[in-house]
Amino acid sequence: MTASEQAPVLTVDGPGGAGKGTISQLLARKLGWHLLDSGALYRLTALAAMKQAVAFDDETALAGVAGALDVRFEPSPGDEPARVFLNGADATTAIRTEECGDRASRVAALPSVRQALLQRQRDFCQPPGLVADGRDMGTVVFPDASHKVFLTASAEERARRRHEQLLAQGEDVKLADLIEEIQVRDERDVNRSTAPLKPADDARVVDTTGLSIDEVLDQVLAVTGHT
Ligand code: DC
Repeated sequence: MTASEQAPVLTVDGPGGAGKGTISQLLARKLGWHLLDSGALYRLTALAAMKQAVAFDDETALAGVAGALDVRFEPSPGDEPARVFLNGADATTAIRTEECGDRASRVAALPSVRQALLQRQRDFCQPPGLVADGRDMGTVVFPDASHKVFLTASAEERARRRHEQLLAQGEDVKLADLIEEIQVRDERDVNRSTAPLKPADDARVVDTTGLSIDEVLDQVLAVTGHT
């Protein structure tokens, strides 16, 4: 039985800062579906590797770390993002730092790490449905998904949104540096050989530059037929 036969899947792919996290969470709430934050799995792999002092050029060891991740997601009340636990300890804030994001982007480029996380991601597909947030949800993890969107926005707008998020969590980073980092990370995500960042052929591309959250939500809900 394929994932799409068990439950409907809405894939939400796109580059960092395009609004996928916020939109996916709101969609999952609105539809009453489960949520997969696949980026968190790459971030947790990076965090676990840092904690275990695994070298970031040791692909086999990193795939081992990814395969053995002891992870739990716990929904939060209200608009708060879900809490993430690694080996029982709260890692919600630790995985959101710039350093962890950068390491995550490196481990995500390794084919054996991606392979090690594949089935774990597919297991999130449970009734009544799943909103899957990531880079390769519609292309690799859930190619048969019933609904697919690809959210994008200009690098400047994505950096500005990220800047606000980081300031809110007390990290002081220069906007110009963020724009540059986002461009480097995009380049790595788009050009990697395994599961590069690109819209699935059957995905609806939504440019969120200048759109409010509600406007994006409306466009994505129209794709699912739940307007
Ligand atoms: O969405 P995010 O910033 O939390 O993702 C962290 C990193 O993981 C980012 O560099 C892209 C990568 N990633 C990926 O390669 N595939 C996914 N499905 C999700 C994230």
